[in-house]
Amino acid sequence: MAPSNTHNSDQKPGHGFIQGHSLIELAKIHKTPLYVYDGNQILTNFSAFEQAVSLLDSKVHFAVKANSSMAILSLLSKVGAGADVVSGGELERAIKANIPAQDIIFSGVGKTEDELLLAMRYNIGQINIESGPELDKIAELASMHNLTCSVALRVNVDVDPGSHEKISTGQNNTKFGVSLADGKAEEYYQKIASHPHLRAAGLAVHIGSQLTNLAPFEKAYIALLEFADHLRANGYDVPCLDLGGGFGIDYENLKQPDFTEYGMLINRIFQNKGYRLGFEPGRSIVGNCGMLITQVIYVKQGIDKRFIIVDAAMNDLIRPTLYEAFHQIVCLNEHESETGIADIVGPICETGDYLARGREMPLVLAEDFLAVYSVGAYGAVMMSNYNTRPEAAEILCYNENVHLIRPRRTITDLIEMEKNPF
Ligand code: LLP
Repeated sequence: MAPSNTHNSDQKPGHGFIQGHSLIELAKIHKTPLYVYDGNQILTNFSAFEQAVSLLDSKVHFAVKANSSMAILSLLSKVGAGADVVSGGELERAIKANIPAQDIIFSGVGKTEDELLLAMRYNIGQINIESGPELDKIAELASMHNLTCSVALRVNVDVDPGSHEKISTGQNNTKFGVSLADGKAEEYYQKIASHPHLRAAGLAVHIGSQLTNLAPFEKAYIALLEFADHLRANGYDVPCLDLGGGFGIDYENLKQPDFTEYGMLINRIFQNKGYRLGFEPGRSIVGNCGMLITQVIYVKQGIDKRFIIVDAAMNDLIRPTLYEAFHQIVCLNEHESETGIADIVGPICETGDYLARGREMPLVLAEDFLAVYSVGAYGAVMMSNYNTRPEAAEILCYNENVHLIRPRRTITDLIEMEKNPF
């Protein structure tokens, strides 16, 4: 059965639309595999998030890693989004999308000298420091180049987010943040506060992604607040708390993200505490706003399994392979109600190349179109050219318009980028 209404689209088989545009028609025009985004839904999600945290002094920084399309960043920039970036490349994208430098946060455990200098020269709002060596490097660069920069300390609060292990960042056995357990965090904050070229922006925390339960957020935020209050009590200036991202979406039932309870939690913990708050949501802003349209190449009956072989593969969407992630998949063509169990697989020569396994599907035929749901976050950004497959094209539906925001590269494009000495 097709899932219930989402993406502002009617999802009855044969009637898949985004903002009034037929997905089958779009697939025929732009070919498959094809990412299709709903720009209006992105803005709806963004303003719902902003609204939920608006009772306190808050700034929402979209996590660019979730979807770094220039068109989507520009759309978000127009409604006042800041950005959370994790590389020089993402920083350049955010700047090019007209996101003010002061509204950009740079996170990540391994920022290089070049990346740090770039961030300092743009004078971005905040660099999140994740280790002692990184703090020393920033201090050295700032002094050497006579620059001043705002830095926050990302702390590790040792909280299990209850998410997939590969996207959990909150525990002490991960590479993220400076632990609160051994006194180093305070030592580093003191160093920041007393350095002539550094401004202490506050503290940051991010315990993981795709959190579907508020309890770990609560635990982490309370630990962060206690440490921030402790620093203040010792005379340090702690203007801002960056509360990270991580809000999960409903991949199974496709319900719109509802930030109300999260917002209430934030109010309960932080009201009257006098901290500015920052947020870095990615998935919850764009996750449910993208579909991957793919065409069936063959239907193959194996000995004990049916395989629906489609033209999208793990190079186009790696989440099922990498995290055993579940994405709803529907057939856009009309079929009788009879269904059967099938694996939906791509053409890549690995058994790990699948979009879904053991899925109940209509009896789809070669040339049918399937829509893979909730791929707006960590979908296109994680594409590769494995098997010399050009990446899927991307289009954005916004109001009544359809924009081709990333044309498909040709195989010649891919090969010509290389240098062949022979
Ligand atoms: N802030 C920091 C410091 C992060 O590391 C992340 C995500 C975010 C914010 C945004 O988190 P979100 O709101 O999107 O959960 N590729 C994986 C997800 C990796 C998330 C990495 N960090 C996936 O496909 O599930």
